[in-house]
Amino acid sequence: MTRLLLIGSGGREHALARKLASSPKLTQLFIAPGNPGTAQYGKNVPISESDIPALLAFAKSESIDITLVGPEGPLVAGIVDRFESQGLKIVGPSQAGAQLEGSKNWSKAFMIRHGIPTAKSAAFTEYAEAVSYIKEKNNFPIVIKADGLAAGKGVTVAADFDSAESALKDALVNQKFKDAGKLVVIEDFLKGEEASILAFIDGKTIVPMVAAQDHKAVFDGDTGPNTGGMGAYSPAKIVTPKVLQRVHEQVLAPLLAGLAKENIAYKGIVYAGLMIDNEVPQVIEFNVRFGDPETQVVVPRLKTDLIDILNAIVTQTLIQQPIEWRDDAAVCVVLAAKGYPGDIESGKPIDGDISRTSDPDVHVIQAGTTLQDGQLITKGGRVLGVVGTDHSLATAIQKTYAAISEIHFEGMHFRRDIGKKGI
Ligand code: AMP
Ligand code: GLY
Repeated sequence: MTRLLLIGSGGREHALARKLASSPKLTQLFIAPGNPGTAQYGKNVPISESDIPALLAFAKSESIDITLVGPEGPLVAGIVDRFESQGLKIVGPSQAGAQLEGSKNWSKAFMIRHGIPTAKSAAFTEYAEAVSYIKEKNNFPIVIKADGLAAGKGVTVAADFDSAESALKDALVNQKFKDAGKLVVIEDFLKGEEASILAFIDGKTIVPMVAAQDHKAVFDGDTGPNTGGMGAYSPAKIVTPKVLQRVHEQVLAPLLAGLAKENIAYKGIVYAGLMIDNEVPQVIEFNVRFGDPETQVVVPRLKTDLIDILNAIVTQTLIQQPIEWRDDAAVCVVLAAKGYPGDIESGKPIDGDISRTSDPDVHVIQAGTTLQDGQLITKGGRVLGVVGTDHSLATAIQKTYAAISEIHFEGMHFRRDIGKKGI
C-alpha cells in the first residue's frame, strides 16, 4: 500500500492525480499545493512547490512512500538529492541530471558528448560577440535561447537579423530573463514537425511512452506567440515506427548510456522535444519531467498502474515492469484566459458542468482555477483542459469540442484545430 505525495498545481498534476487515484494500491494521495481539480482525488496541502524544506518535513511526518515531482523548478533546485539524503523515495533526476532542462548550454554539450542529434549552436555571454556571430552566419531564421529556466518564454525564433538582435539585447543587456538569460544559446533553425516523446527512466532502463504532439502557438494554424501549450493529442502521426526506432537508437539509448557514463543519477521521467523532418528526428530540448499538456493525453492511454511504474523507477527494476497502452486516441484542448500568453485577466466565474461524471469519454482537467465562496473562478493563463478519448482521433476531437461548447468564462479562448495534423 502506498502513501504518495505529488508536487505541483497545474493541469499535468490534475491528470496525474486522476490516474494515481485509480490505483488499488493507493492508500493516501497528497498534492502540494494542488488545485481544485486535484482535490477531487486527494488532499491538497498548502505548501509551495518551491519550499523544499517544508516538502521534506511533510513527507517525513506523513510517512510518504513515494514523492512524484511535476514541475521542473524543484528538480533543478535539487529536491531529489535532498529527499534521497534523508532516505526518502522520490521520482525525478538528481540535480546534476536536471541540468538537461535547467541549462540549455549544458544540455547541448551533453548531447554533443554523446552523439545525440541536435541543431548546431554556440553560446555567448557578451552581447557584441553574439551579434557578430549572427551577422557572420547571416542565416535566418535563427533561434535565440536563454540558457536557464524561463517558464517557456526564453526562446525566440527570430525571422531576421533585427529580431535576433533585439532578442539578444533583451537577454544579455536588458536582463529580461534575469540570471536565466545571462548566457544565451544561439541555435540553427530546424525545419520539420514537432513531437514529444516522454520516457520512464530508472538509470538502467529507458522506456518510451506513447508519443504526443503539443500545439505551442496561441492561434490556429500555429500562428501567434508561443505559449506553455494550447493543446495536445496522442498518438502523434508523425512518429512512425521508423521514427520511433531512430529516437530509441539515436536519442534515448545514448541518453541513458551518457548519464551512466557520467555517473549522473536519474530515476524519473525524461521528455524529448523533437523536430522531425523526413522521418529524421533531432532533439530541440530535453525536459526532466512530464509535459504539460502532453500528460493530459498520454496518461489516460496508460493501462498499467502508474504506482507500479513509479515503484519500479525508484527501485531500478523498470526492466521487469510490463507497461501497456490503450490503442485509443486522446486529445486535450486548453481553454485559456483573455490575454494569454500575455497579461491575463483572472477571477472570472466558470460556468458549465465540468465534473461530467456521466461521460466516460470526456473529462475536464483544471489548471488555472480556484474556489471562491464555493464558486469556481479563473486564476491563471491556462484555465482548463478538456480531454476526449475515442478509438478514432476524429471522434475524440468532435467529442472534445462538443463538451467545450457547454463551458464558458468571460474572455475564454482556445484553438479550434487541436489534433487536426493527426488526421
Ligand atoms: P524549447 O523551449 O527549446 O523547446 O523551444 C520552444 C519552441 O521553440 C520549440 O517548441 C520550437 O517550436 C521552437 N524551437 C526551439 N528550438 C528550435 C530550433 N532549433 N529550430 C526550430 N524551432 C525551434
Ligand atoms: N508542453 C511543453 C512542456 O511541457 O514543456
